[in-house]
Amino acid sequence: MSHQHQTRRITVPEIKAHKGATPVVCLTCYHAHTARLLDAHVDVMLVGDSLGMVMHGLENTLGVTLEMMITHGKAVMRGSQRALVVVDMPFGTYEESPEVAFRNAARVIQETGCTAVKLEGGSRMAQTVTYLTQRGIPVMGHIGLTPQGINVAGGFRTVGRSAEEWPAIEADAKTLADAGAFAVVLEGMAEPLAARITAAISIPTIGIGASPACDGQVLVMEDMLGLNPHPPKFVREYASLGPAIEAAVKAYAADVRSRSFPGVENVYPMKKAGSVGPGGV
Ligand code: KIV
Repeated sequence: MSHQHQTRRITVPEIKAHKGATPVVCLTCYHAHTARLLDAHVDVMLVGDSLGMVMHGLENTLGVTLEMMITHGKAVMRGSQRALVVVDMPFGTYEESPEVAFRNAARVIQETGCTAVKLEGGSRMAQTVTYLTQRGIPVMGHIGLTPQGINVAGGFRTVGRSAEEWPAIEADAKTLADAGAFAVVLEGMAEPLAARITAAISIPTIGIGASPACDGQVLVMEDMLGLNPHPPKFVREYASLGPAIEAAVKAYAADVRSRSFPGVENVYPMKKAGSVGPGGV
């Protein structure tokens, strides 16, 4: 299948069909211009609540609101036509009950037009995953290092580096798959555990800092483009846009100060004499 010519959206069953086959390619995306650039090349665009830090300068994801997610979700949907778009449910909008989760997830789906939502948590979210899925809202799970749990965990900690932790995390993955999640993000997880989970469940695992053993990979786009001055160890930088942007802005500032920008090519000349009548513009 040629990615370049497909203009309908990739579907949830198509993502599920990647299980044990070609890895699922996923990147975060928060705005229309980048959505347009990513659309032909990724299978899934995740409007992640990491936008709180990346776009809004927050310290963590806990201050992200449903309105912020909807605003960025709409922008990504407007900028894309092919990739499946998943929007994160932010902290405080889904944990209370399946009913609350449904009401808020339905808003996300209706107002953005995206296909699916993602929520953090394993076994404790199973009932909610089933409730949403049975009512027409596909759910991507997210286990391992779950950034919305930062205050309980006391920080961001990679999981599964000692085998005693494994049974509970494996149970989380299996329970989410049985509950109807169509894929699950494994974040910050030791490779042997990610491999075990990937072998054990029937839905694609999407890794971020969880090794190539997963059925797909996701990164925060700004991290892989080199915009994060302190990227995590699991990030590979495919460009150095941070330094490139800084160099461009420095050159622009020098040009403005020296009056070499705007140049003649950037200036609107007068129309030829006689082509504009009195009062014309
Ligand atoms: O918010 C986010 O960007 C995410 C990914 C890191 C998986 O949840």
